[in-house]
Amino acid sequence: MNEISITTKFTVYKNADELIPTDKKLRLKSLEAKNNAYAPYSKFSVGASILLENGVIIQGNNQENAAYPSGICAERVAIWNAASQYPEIKIQKIFISSSSNTRTVDQPVAPCGACRQSIVEYETKQAKNIEIYFTGETGEIIKANSINDLLPFAFNSSSL
Ligand code: THU
Repeated sequence: MNEISITTKFTVYKNADELIPTDKKLRLKSLEAKNNAYAPYSKFSVGASILLENGVIIQGNNQENAAYPSGICAERVAIWNAASQYPEIKIQKIFISSSSNTRTVDQPVAPCGACRQSIVEYETKQAKNIEIYFTGETGEIIKANSINDLLPFAFNSSSL
């Protein structure tokens, strides 16, 4: 019997001022996407922007439904949007911003489990890490270098 431990490194930015210009722009694109979120039920809006290796930025936001489980998260809208339009172009980074109509979200909001699994699929497919940035409305921004840091021991195509 062996015990193993995993260490994970994240970068924590105090606020957007600490980001490099490319990431500042990507953040603004996630905010722009968040403005178009359709979240009448949860009042919780999420915007995601994806930077592709060809420089194109793809956006997505959460789309809710009166039949609640039929709604979909921002990250999956964005990543499927990217994959459907640019199937051969690798994804460099995804920036996720969240806010609520009922409170100020002052903590970074990490992607949900289903979105992490969806990101695993494309990181595996492209055999290159995807940087993941996530934040609330104010405060810190967290960056993970790879989805493996957010979803260790992931199920992927090599598990089949
Ligand atoms: N949501 C996202 O868009 N991304 C996540 O990773 C977590 C949750 C959305 C789904 C739903 O519309 C709202 O936030 C509240 O759960």
